[in-house]
Parts: sequence; C-alpha cells; structure tokens
Amino acid sequence: SGFPSVLRNGLSKLGFPREILELVFNWVDGNEDYLKIPEAKGSISAIRSEAFFIPLYELYLTYGGIFRLSFGPKSFLIVSDPSIAKHILKDNSKAYSKGILAEILDFVMGKGLIPADGEIWRVRRRAIVPALHQKYVAAMIGLFGQATDRLCKKLDVAASDGEDVEMESLFSRLTLDIIGKAVFNYDFDSLTNDTGIVEAVYTVLREAEDRSVAPIPIWEIPIWKDISPRQRKVKEALKLINDTLDDLIAICKRMVDEEELQFHKEYVNEKDPSILHFLLASGDDVSSKQLRDDLMTMLIAGHETSAAVLTWTFYLLSKEPSVVSKLQDEVDSVLGDRFPTVEDMKKLKYTTRVINESLRLYPQPPVLIRRSLEDDMLGKYPIKRGEDFFISVWNLHRSPHLWEDADKFNPERWPLHGPTPNETNQNFRYLPFGGGPRKCVGDMFASFENIVAVAMLVRRFNFQMALGAPPVEMTTGATIHTTQGLKMTVTRRIKPPIMPVLNTLETTILLDQKTE
Ligand code: HEM
Repeated sequence: SGFPSVLRNGLSKLGFPREILELVFNWVDGNEDYLKIPEAKGSISAIRSEAFFIPLYELYLTYGGIFRLSFGPKSFLIVSDPSIAKHILKDNSKAYSKGILAEILDFVMGKGLIPADGEIWRVRRRAIVPALHQKYVAAMIGLFGQATDRLCKKLDVAASDGEDVEMESLFSRLTLDIIGKAVFNYDFDSLTNDTGIVEAVYTVLREAEDRSVAPIPIWEIPIWKDISPRQRKVKEALKLINDTLDDLIAICKRMVDEEELQFHKEYVNEKDPSILHFLLASGDDVSSKQLRDDLMTMLIAGHETSAAVLTWTFYLLSKEPSVVSKLQDEVDSVLGDRFPTVEDMKKLKYTTRVINESLRLYPQPPVLIRRSLEDDMLGKYPIKRGEDFFISVWNLHRSPHLWEDADKFNPERWPLHGPTPNETNQNFRYLPFGGGPRKCVGDMFASFENIVAVAMLVRRFNFQMALGAPPVEMTTGATIHTTQGLKMTVTRRIKPPIMPVLNTLETTILLDQKTE
C-alpha cells in the first residue's frame, strides 16, 4: 500500500507538478472529498530566506493553525495549533513517520534513533532510554562542571586581555566536548584544540544543515555525488568519524569484557560512565551499523541543540540586566564558589526558569517534521496518507493567541514554585523537547547541562554585547543559528567587598576621626 506514495514522492522529486500528481493519485487512492485546508498564497520564494520559520509565522497569523504551503512540486502542511500538534505527536503518533527528515539525515544518521521509524525505532528506543537513567545524568553533572570550567578559564584570559569573544562558537565547542565524553567517552577537547576529528564533525554538521534547507537534493545525483569536491570532503569526514567510532567501540568493548560489574538497571561504570559503555554492557551488538548510527545521532542531537540554547539564552540575557541580577543573586546564594551538584539542580529555580523561557522564544529545532502514513482527520480536516508536515514549534511558542506578551523574554511568567513547564502541563502549546513517544531522550541531561553552564558563567562573568558587534540575526539549519556570531565583551564580576570581621576596630577609629 506504500507503493503509490513512494511513486508519488519519487515523481515529485523529479519535478512533476503537484497538481497533476494529486489528480492522478487521488484517482488511484479513491476519490474522497478533497481537503479544504486553507492554502497559503503569495510569494513563496520568501520561504527560502535565511530563517524560513519567520515567513511561516506571518502565514500562520493569516491562515491559522493548519494551512498548506506549496513550492514547485512540493507541498507541506504547516501546523501551529496545539491540539493538532498533540494529535500528530501523541494521540495518533503511530500514523506518522519522520518522512523527509529521515531522507535528509540518512547519510549521517542512517537508521539512528531520530530518523528511525517503525520496529527499528521501537527496539532502539527501548535499548537507549535506559542508558540515560537518573544515576547516569547525576554522574554527568561533574562533567558539565569541568567542561564549563575550561570555558571559564578561556574567558578569563579574554577578560584579562580585553578581547571580545564570539560566544556561539565557544558554546558549540563546550557542548561538543560534553557530548563526546557523555556518549562515547571521547575527549574532543575542542575548546583548546582544532584536531581533524573536530573539523570532521563540523563538516558533517554543516552538510546535514545545508541539506535540510536545500530545494533540490543534488547530493543524490549519481555522478555529481562522486566528483563534487564538497561531497568528497563530506565522505572523508564521515570516514574519519566512523573510524574513530570503531576505535572507541573496540576500546570500550575491552573494558566491558574485563570488568566484573554485574549489569543492572542503574549500571554506571565510574571510569567510563558513557552511554556507549552502558549499551555494550547491556549486550548491544558491537559490530552493528545500528550502534554507530545511534551514537552519531546522539552526538549531533545533543551537541547543536544545547549550543543553540546557550547562545540564545546569553543573547536574551544581554538585553535584560534585571534578569541577570536576579540570576546572579540566586547563583551566588546557592553555589557560592562551588561546582554545581545534582542537589543544586532543584535549588537553581530561577536559572531553570530563564532556560525554560529561552527555550520558548528559541525552540531547537524550530519545526518538527512528520509524514502521514495513513489517511487521518486533523480537527475538521481530512488529510491523506503521504502528506509532509511541519509542526511549527516557533509558532506555538510565540502565538499571540496562546501567550500574553508572546515575544517578551519574561522568565517570571513561570512561577518559581510551580511545576517545570513541559508539553503535558502546557497542553502542547509549549514543546521544547517534543512530545509523545518520540519525545527527546536527553531532556533531563540537556536541562542540567544548560543550568550548570549558565550558573557557572554568570557567577564569574558579566556578558555584554561587544561594541560594534554585528547585529544578531537568525538563520536556520536544524537549529537556529546567528548569521554572524554572538560577539560579546566579557568582564570578571566584581563581587561586593566582604567586610572582614577584624576590621571593625579600624572602621570605628575611622568613623571616630570623621566625627571629630
Ligand atoms: C528528540 C530537543 C538534547 C537526544 C528530540 C526532539 C526535540 C529535541 C524537540 C523531538 C524531535 C521530534 O519529535 O521530531 C532537544 C533539545 C535539546 C536536546 C532542545 C537540548 C537543549 C538532547 C541530548 C540528547 C538528545 C543531550 C542525547 C543525549 C535525542 C534523541 C531524540 C531526540 C535520541 C529522538 C528520540 C526518538 O525519536 O525516539 N530532541 N534535544 N537530545 N533527542 Fe533531543
């Protein structure tokens, strides 16, 4: 039954006009009433501008919670309505797959957990979720602290030299260092080194992002993909990463074979708490491509997202000094000069709210992608099998119908003693980590990582937009990037002087002299 939709997608990729395909395939599929979903008209070329979700927001205000958007032979349904999003992601999630996302990411993630569908996804989700158990995440907090401390040392130098820093690339390196250790116990040390492997990771990431916004899949053209210098570079980068992965898997396998630990639910090897170690100890097949696909998936999923969250959080903070003072007060009183511990995660309530609010204004990724596997009803609209969907988290998070002062960065909108906002308690108007069975497996990991980084950085430094910094504008790949970086001036915080007790005498004398 999937054949017509495969054929239809194939033909549409070859450039057949959508109208004709629809006519033919509606006839093949049987001819129910055709959908009455509003159809966006106008200059669709605007969608190819840097941040494609911005024109989608304008169209949402005009056409509402679900509308169709066509460019050339391609057509998408854009969803910005919480109950339709809930239906697709949760209530009837079985009827939807990752669609074009799986096609775009195949070269790097294969059948890894993000693009995988059906039985493969079910089996792998069941293998991977247990690896991120509470004790593992708690063990990661020390790693988050050490990695952030390395960044602090770097910023310390910049502060002394009076040199501005480009924070987006530093955050990208911070989160790469963290995820490398966390997923397969590899120290990229990208904050200090530019090794070949770091460059390879960025080559692959850039390619994945370019492919997600490319109008035609030129990388699929048979000869081109072998002779294009760029595609060759991507292939070489992939090979280097895969070879490194193979080495890491072999090293880890040896450790697992030698250790005496019994595998159990909250298994953690203290020397190597990585997800890879857990998976191998739980009996994962070392030789499988599946394991490599999943590791690669987590490397990318956990790296770019967190980097983007930190970038936009610091951008937002640079515009709200009053939020920064509150944040610093909390961090000063909870942490002082200590590294954060897992107990602190509960106490850093305002820090958490700042990140919740940053994730509302800059969701990563800004849209979720799905394809319908069967006919379905979305609210009052019937839809066909084989439709491609963009669920615009950006629109949900910034809808004037769902939020008061939707565009305002206001961490206070989340009461400190209320529950931490998530898709369930916000009825799918807020989905920073998705929802339903395909919800992010790294949500707690990522939240703690961001809390630790923000807390440690604002504790030590003040951040301001650098004088003459380029304007901060958005562009998209998988996550929201700045167009020209986030250039900031970093200064060490001047802590309020602490009055030493011994000085009381001197102070009295001074005061006495004054009153003389
Ligand atoms: C899925 C966001 C960090 C691993 C997702 C999804 C979102 C998301 C929105 C759902 C995608 C969809 O439904 O199409 C984020 C954000 C992060 C973050 C904002 C950081 C702030 C991480 C980390 C890891 C991770 C650190 C790994 C350790 C995954 C995986 C999936 C996923 C494997 C796919 C789950 C599945 O399909 O079953 N993430 N993520 N993420 N995320 Fe994250």
